[in-house]
Amino acid sequence: MKKIYLVGFMGSGKSTVGQKLSNVLNESYIDLDHYIEKSLGTNIDSIFRDSGEAFFRQYEADALKQISDSDIKIIATGGGIVESTQNINCMKQTGKIIYLHTSFEEIHRRLAGDNSRPLWKDDQSNRNLYQRRINLYQTCADFVIHSDKLTVEQQVEEIVQKLKV
Ligand code: S3P
Repeated sequence: MKKIYLVGFMGSGKSTVGQKLSNVLNESYIDLDHYIEKSLGTNIDSIFRDSGEAFFRQYEADALKQISDSDIKIIATGGGIVESTQNINCMKQTGKIIYLHTSFEEIHRRLAGDNSRPLWKDDQSNRNLYQRRINLYQTCADFVIHSDKLTVEQQVEEIVQKLKV
């Protein structure tokens, strides 16, 4: 099986869906943010605060490259992975990209009170980032799952069906 990269905005459920998909397909799974946190021994928020976003992006690109060279099949990426053409090419060359599309309203509801995401800020910058990113996700994805009204199980089922085509 080719690799599966799950992309989408913060709070779109990439980690939960990735984990469940890996159980259903009986394939290996990794969450890129967790991998980065484990490698650096600290959390994403501290990495942004202590070393800055540019450092995080370089580390994220290196981590993606390492995982793309590994045997791991299902990868939940961080919401900003699509900010780099190099990352998109890396994912395209080694697997299929699935975009979990979630509406801004739903994300806003899910992330209310979330302090773990350094780029989830005030309402206007959140909306701007969301608008800019959806074009990037849509352009690179092999297919899109509209996740707002679906349970995790339904999303996984839809992915499994679409992978068969
Ligand atoms: C980011 C999303 C986060 C994490 C970091 C940057 C982004 O991952 O990689 O905070 O730029 O959208 P999640 O999408 O898992 O929240």
